[in-house]
Amino acid sequence: MNHLNTNLQRKFYLKTLGCQMNEHDSEIIVGILTNLGYQQTEDHKQADLILYNTCSVRENPERKVYGQIGSLRMQKEQNPDLIIGICGCMPQQKAELDKILETLPHVDLVFGTHNIHRLPELLERVQTEERVVEVWDDTEEIAEELPIRRANRFKAYVNVIYGCNNFCSYCVVPYTRGREKSRRPQDILAEIKQLADEGYKEVTLLGQNVNTYGADLSQKTSFAELLALINDHSGIERIRFTTSHPKDMQEELIAAMAHLPKVCEHLHLPVQTGSDRILKRMNRHYTSAYYLDLVARIREAIPDISLTTDLIVGFPGETDTDFEKTLELIAKVRFSSAFTFIFSPRPGTPAAQMGDQVPDEVKKERIYRLIELQNQISLEYMQAQVGKIEEVFVDEITGKTNKLSGRTRTNKQVLFSGSPDLIGRLVQVKITEAKTWSLRGVLA
Ligand code: SAM
Ligand code: SF4
Ligand code: F3S
Repeated sequence: MNHLNTNLQRKFYLKTLGCQMNEHDSEIIVGILTNLGYQQTEDHKQADLILYNTCSVRENPERKVYGQIGSLRMQKEQNPDLIIGICGCMPQQKAELDKILETLPHVDLVFGTHNIHRLPELLERVQTEERVVEVWDDTEEIAEELPIRRANRFKAYVNVIYGCNNFCSYCVVPYTRGREKSRRPQDILAEIKQLADEGYKEVTLLGQNVNTYGADLSQKTSFAELLALINDHSGIERIRFTTSHPKDMQEELIAAMAHLPKVCEHLHLPVQTGSDRILKRMNRHYTSAYYLDLVARIREAIPDISLTTDLIVGFPGETDTDFEKTLELIAKVRFSSAFTFIFSPRPGTPAAQMGDQVPDEVKKERIYRLIELQNQISLEYMQAQVGKIEEVFVDEITGKTNKLSGRTRTNKQVLFSGSPDLIGRLVQVKITEAKTWSLRGVLA
C-alpha cells in the first residue's frame, strides 16, 4: 500500500516497437506500472518514467531508438529524477547492450524480454543505484498471473509459446527470445475463460511458430488439440493465431481449422521467397513446390481461407531470376495481403556474414515491383468479396468517417454505417465496395 501512495502522482510514457509479442509484453508492463500507482501519459515531457520496448528485427527500428532516446538528454538534464529505460529485444544482444550503455549514458534502467516480471524490483533499485542493468539470456520458468492492462476491450492477445528454435539465417529473434517454451494448456485455457467472462469476444494466440506448440511439454499437447480445447471449453467466440511456419504445418492443424467453428478462416503463413536456392540459404527447410502443395491442401480443406504472408527481397545472393520466382509464387498463391521487407543484415546472424550482399538500389527496385504486383492481387481479392454477406466483429467508430469499423472472419477491415451500440458485437454485413486495404458495406 505504501508503494502505491508514494507513486500516486507518477506518470510513465511507454513506446512500443516491433511485433505483437512486444505489444503484448507492453500490456504487461502497463499492468505492472498501473499496479504500482503510475499513470500512463502520451506526452513524454510529462513523464517521470520513459520506457522504450524495443525491436531488433530490422535496422530501422533500432536506429529510431538511438535517435529518440538520444534526444531525451535535455529532458534528463532538466529533470535529473526522470528515469529513462530500455527493454525488449535490443538489450538481449550483447553487442547492442554494450552500445546502449556506451552511447546513451542518460539511460538509467535496462532489462530484457525474459524478466519483465522483475520490473517492480528494478524500479526500486533504480531509486538508489546509478544504473540498473538486468538482462537474462533465457529462462526456464514462465511467469504466470502477471497483471495485464489490455489495449482493447474485446480482443486480446494470449501467449501460447515463447521463443523460437528455427534460426532462419537472417533472423535475430532466436537470439532475443530464447528457446521455445510452451505455456501449459490449463493456464492458457484459464486465461481465455476469464477473458470470455469479462466480455472479450476474440483471442489471438501468439507464438513465433505456434505450429510446434506443446512439443516441449511433459504432457504433450499439439496446437490442434489446444485449439479444440479453446473452441470447446473457453466461451470465446473467435480464435485467431500467429505465426505458422510452413515446415511444421501438419494435416491435423488444417483439419482443426476446417472443423472448429470458432477458429477463423485466416492463416498467416510466411513464405519469405519463391526461390528454392534462397529458401535453402535462409534455412527455411521447405521448397516452393512444398509450399504450393501445402497451400492447395489448405484451400481444399478450407475453401474460404484468406492467406497472408511475409516476403523478404534482397537476401544475400538473390539474383534477378530468384526474385522473378518470388513474383511467380505470389501470382500463383494470390495472398490476400503480404508484409514485404527489404533484407536488413542483423549483426550476429549468418546472413549478415554472407559475401554476396545485394546493393540497396537493386533491393529498392525489387520491393517496388513486389509491392505493385501484390497490391494488384490484394485489390482483386477484395473486389471478389463484393456482394458477399460476412460476419463482422465490430471494433470501433473510425474518427474520420464516423463509420463503424470491424473485421471479417478472414481479418479484413469493413467500414459501414450503424449505431455505436453495435461495438463489441458480431453482425452480418453485406459487402458493397472494395479498396486495396479495406471493404465498405451495409448492415444486412
Ligand atoms: N516468427 C515469425 C515467422 O517466422 O514468420 C515472425 C518473424 S519476424 C518477427 C516477422 C518477419 O520479419 C519475418 O517473417 C521476415 O519476413 C521479416 N524479417 C525477419 N528478419 C528480417 C531481416 N533481417 N530483414 C528483413 N526482414 C526480416
Ligand atoms: Fe525468425 Fe524464423 Fe524464428 Fe520466425 S521462424 S522468428 S523468421 S527464426
Ligand atoms: Fe522485433 Fe523482438 Fe518481435 S526483434 S519483431 S520485437 S520478437
